Amino acid sequence: MTGTRHDVRFYVGNEYHTLADIAPTRTLLDWLREDRGLTGTKEGCNEGDCGACTVLVVRLEGDRLVWRAVNACIQFVAMLDGAQVLTIEDMRAPDGSLHPVQQAMVDQHGSQCGFCTPGFVMSMVAGRKADGLVQDEHGIDDMLAGNLCRCTGYAPIVRAMRQAMQAGPDHFDAMAQDMADRLRRLRDGATVDISGPTGRLTIPATADALASTLLASPDARIVAGATDVGLWVTKGLRVLPHIVPIGGIADLRRIERRPDALYIGAAVTWQEARAALTEILPQPDDEVIRRIGSVQVRNAGTVCGNIANGSPIGDGPPVLIAAGARLHLRRGDVRRTIALEDFFIDYGRQDRAAGEFVEGVSIPVPGPQTVIRAWKISKRFDQDISAILGAFSLTITPDGTIENARVAFGGMAATPRRASRTEAALAGHKWDETTLEAARQAIAQDFAPITDMRASDWYRRTVAANLLTRLYADCGPDAARAPISVRTACKAAGEHAHG
Ligand SMILES: Cc1cc2nc3c(=O)[nH]c(=O)nc-3n(C[C@H](O)[C@H](O)[C@H](O)COP(=O)(O)OP(=O)(O)OC[C@H]3O[C@@H](n4cnc5c(N)ncnc54)[C@H](O)[C@@H]3O)c2cc1C
Ligand code: FES
Ligand code: FES
Repeated sequence: MTGTRHDVRFYVGNEYHTLADIAPTRTLLDWLREDRGLTGTKEGCNEGDCGACTVLVVRLEGDRLVWRAVNACIQFVAMLDGAQVLTIEDMRAPDGSLHPVQQAMVDQHGSQCGFCTPGFVMSMVAGRKADGLVQDEHGIDDMLAGNLCRCTGYAPIVRAMRQAMQAGPDHFDAMAQDMADRLRRLRDGATVDISGPTGRLTIPATADALASTLLASPDARIVAGATDVGLWVTKGLRVLPHIVPIGGIADLRRIERRPDALYIGAAVTWQEARAALTEILPQPDDEVIRRIGSVQVRNAGTVCGNIANGSPIGDGPPVLIAAGARLHLRRGDVRRTIALEDFFIDYGRQDRAAGEFVEGVSIPVPGPQTVIRAWKISKRFDQDISAILGAFSLTITPDGTIENARVAFGGMAATPRRASRTEAALAGHKWDETTLEAARQAIAQDFAPITDMRASDWYRRTVAANLLTRLYADCGPDAARAPISVRTACKAAGEHAHG
């Protein structure tokens, strides 16, 4: 079937659900607990931070089952159309035996208060199912970074995860073919449209259908991963009269590695984009991308949602601006492409007309003489919002002259912004200590940051200048001779703090 249908269809465990009168912003967590009585999934923070509400969402992509841990508290039920949701209630095998992850938690004494345990178990199961996510100890830490244990019992949980990674197949392996078959049967290529007293929901089947929906209803709210929008509902108690989830639109889920640029479509999540981004931006991946929220947040949140949200402290924009990214916008059949920095006009104001949407972003592949670096400064290493993020792209000729400089900061102004005076102090100059000092002076002219709960203006100005020094230590003329690079030292400090 193509055309339009008026219900949302998905599985929870092995149970099929079709919902025709769902409130568009009913969260998956509330629906599971209150409508289905599945209270194993817990509510802690209700804002994507603690992981107590972690569930698994399984989708058929091509012919492959893809398993993702997400925070049920900031997913709307409607976004599950076409998926299978697994909760802690589904983890026991049909013969009643514990899942290998549950057994490992028992064996290693990984459960203390027990409130956070279902969420940990779900993240651990996801870690076993997701290709290549958990390959070493860092992978375990990353996988568990989105689950908080307030009684500080991480060590036995990490031991349980190690044991679980070694364990044999689980009952889902035996069911994989059935799961794939029934998810295949849910694919009908239809656009979903549901209107009711609590609002309207449109799930366009294609980018063309999205373009027409937004032309007809320019005030409709696009929802990509809902990792920003979800909080408007759960914490801001905002009513969104018409939402348009775009996560399932195949033409917006493209990642294209072109010889000169990487293209990332609007529905591509951080987790999906990560490998391709790492190929061209390896250091920002380590320092920034893997620190965007948690696995659960990166599994839902999109690169383009991070841009479209327009936050001055979003981590993606400064990195992508420094890398020279271009943003692709579409309204109806009219498309335009702009430099990413031009999208951010002022606080809460972006260059996006009514009915227009972000179709994708492209990032040029850096040449061999270009170095791109970025550092996120936040109070906590994992799961924290930046106080400041500095991103730098320098093209350095073999004689040590900076041919081109792009410098962008988050957290220093009302929008993510380029530091034009700093760039001028760098470009055309030898990359030496005199130039570094000139750039440090220039950055004070570029920004007049504010004081807020994350950092004072003094701290922001000082750290911004010090990030230039860090850049110099990392890729200046003496970097190779330094006994221990600043980056290595800081990385070690970060690991120590986390561990
Ligand atoms: C616990 C937690 C931790 C987080 N940590 C970080 C972090 O470390 N760093 C960071 O930068 N962010 C962080 N975030 C914020 C968020 O995860 C990111 O901004 C994410 O990339 C948003 O993407 P999304 O797809 O979820 O956007 P959504 O919430 O779906 O949408 C955000 C906004 O963009 C609009 N929008 C989305 N897609 C389009 C489109 N294609 N065209 C036009 N408008 C569109 C929506 O209408 C909405 O206004 C965190 C969030 C949570 C809950
Ligand atoms: S309840 Fe804390 S992440 Fe959902
Ligand atoms: S076991 Fe629940 S907070 Fe530690």
